[in-house]
Amino acid sequence: MRITDTADLWWKTAVVYCLDVETFLDWNGDGVGDLPGLAQRIDYLEELGVTCIWLMPFYPTPDRDDGYDITDFYGVDPRLGTHGDLVEAIRTARDRGIRVIVDLVVNHTSDQHPWFISARSGKNSPHRDWYTWVDQPPKDLKLEPVFPDAETSAWEYDRKTKQYYLHRFYKYQPDLNVTNPQVRDEIAKVMGFWLSLGISGFRVDAVPFLLETIGERPGALPDPHEYLRSLRQFLGRRTGDGILLGEVNLPHDQQQLFFGGGSGSGSGSGGKGRGKGGSGTAGDELTMQFDFIAMQNLYLSLARQDAGPLAKALTERPDIPPDAQWATFVRNHDELTLDKLSDEERQEVFAAFGPDPKMQVYGRGLVRRLPPMLDGDPRRVRMVYSLLFSLPGTPVLFYGEEIGMGENLEQTSRSAVRTAMQWTDGKNGGFSTAEPEDLAAPVVTGGFSPDHVNVAAQRNDPDSLLNFIRLLTTRYRACPELGWGRFEIVQQPHSQVLAHRLTWDDASLVGLHNLGPDAVSVPFTLADTDSDCELVDLLQTGTTRPGKKGEAEMQVDGYGYRWLRVTRPGDRRLR
Ligand code: GLC
Repeated sequence: MRITDTADLWWKTAVVYCLDVETFLDWNGDGVGDLPGLAQRIDYLEELGVTCIWLMPFYPTPDRDDGYDITDFYGVDPRLGTHGDLVEAIRTARDRGIRVIVDLVVNHTSDQHPWFISARSGKNSPHRDWYTWVDQPPKDLKLEPVFPDAETSAWEYDRKTKQYYLHRFYKYQPDLNVTNPQVRDEIAKVMGFWLSLGISGFRVDAVPFLLETIGERPGALPDPHEYLRSLRQFLGRRTGDGILLGEVNLPHDQQQLFFGGGSGSGSGSGGKGRGKGGSGTAGDELTMQFDFIAMQNLYLSLARQDAGPLAKALTERPDIPPDAQWATFVRNHDELTLDKLSDEERQEVFAAFGPDPKMQVYGRGLVRRLPPMLDGDPRRVRMVYSLLFSLPGTPVLFYGEEIGMGENLEQTSRSAVRTAMQWTDGKNGGFSTAEPEDLAAPVVTGGFSPDHVNVAAQRNDPDSLLNFIRLLTTRYRACPELGWGRFEIVQQPHSQVLAHRLTWDDASLVGLHNLGPDAVSVPFTLADTDSDCELVDLLQTGTTRPGKKGEAEMQVDGYGYRWLRVTRPGDRRLR
């Protein structure tokens, strides 16, 4: 095992933390979180064990889609600070060993973007072809709008110029036309710009939609994946170790194509797969992708108290290129989408975790955070995070998860989970000194309010969730087999238990997670071990010696979890 490889391919064992500057910490007292506020909390993130911050959009915006509607790809929203403030925050993070990646939202712009204002001013506008226009929406192309509660079509009629423009998201987010070389050049320039300010890559928004080349006409991209490859090559030329972390919510086999590891004939909704003679080498597109399939099956498993669905999702993950990685997560800033489950499965999860219609959106997701879904049961919450950090991949936290923040169901739709970070039990949860009515997002009330859930109290409590997550980040970083290793399910008799193992050269870890409320005794055999080995508990103290043929039996509490390092005589890793 070459431990030094973990430094080159840093993303394979990173601890990623997603935050929105607007709701993280307001330093100038105007009610809006800001970049100087972020800089103040870099040390907190370091203490937590974060190694990579993912900044949600901080660009100038009319803010109708939480900043995902951008009017200047090169700008910083003046409410949040300046380019100077951003560079200071990035530099401070770097000093603490933390990289920063930023959202790259180039599937669309805001309809207030100067390019679109120009484009809709007339058919002869130099920016007309920067967007996708048609005289009539093509009937044969079934393009569902992503937000069915707000939009009935992915095409919007523009009265002045008498054509329709494409918008896969809200109508105020016209899709850019990446078949236009000028648009492609501009996107590369945008990437180059932020890279030159010291970031380490991008979380790429809505990748399958970006690659979609609708309204195909002369000049349409013959192979959209070729375009993704070119973006990755550009990234490589501008920075040696930058990453593209893609949002690709598609079935696993289609996701494989987006790593650039596909075999050639796939037809993901993001494109046409490899064209004939496609020359890509494996691993030359996205560096990482979120594993939406494992996430959705995690919730199904939790709802059923049956590890089966999660185990199946993990086992059926396709092989990915050696340098690529899955990003695992429990929650993000969007709805908890369950769109890849069957209707019946989705209803099971709704019934268990979000029965009230106001907890559901778009017919496919929940607008809740994890702890309220689990009735605040600390055993269950910890078990889920123990699972997250022990799954094969790179864990991604959404701000506030580390202290067990809840949602605010009085907020509409996805805003429910985008509330202000809870730092103290003081005014506005320590987020801001402004008056409550001036806050960018109201503070959560009730049982998950800052009175009960806040950083300050948990930092001083050795038994807090925050300190537990810190333990998990520390152990995760000390077990690179979790990011690099070969995954297998360990056979044992209990359906409510997930027993899995990750092995990377001589390093091996077994995870036991009990999704049910009753304690169980879990017998299993580790084929390549014997009584000279030891199973060392990494989340508590204790060591167990397996039998001659590697047989062992472990107790796991109700909603319990254990991480067992398999050690052999002469093993010199620190315990
Ligand atoms: C992505 C973002 C989501 C946003 C959408 C449109 O799905 O995660 O928040 O609304 O793209 O940009």
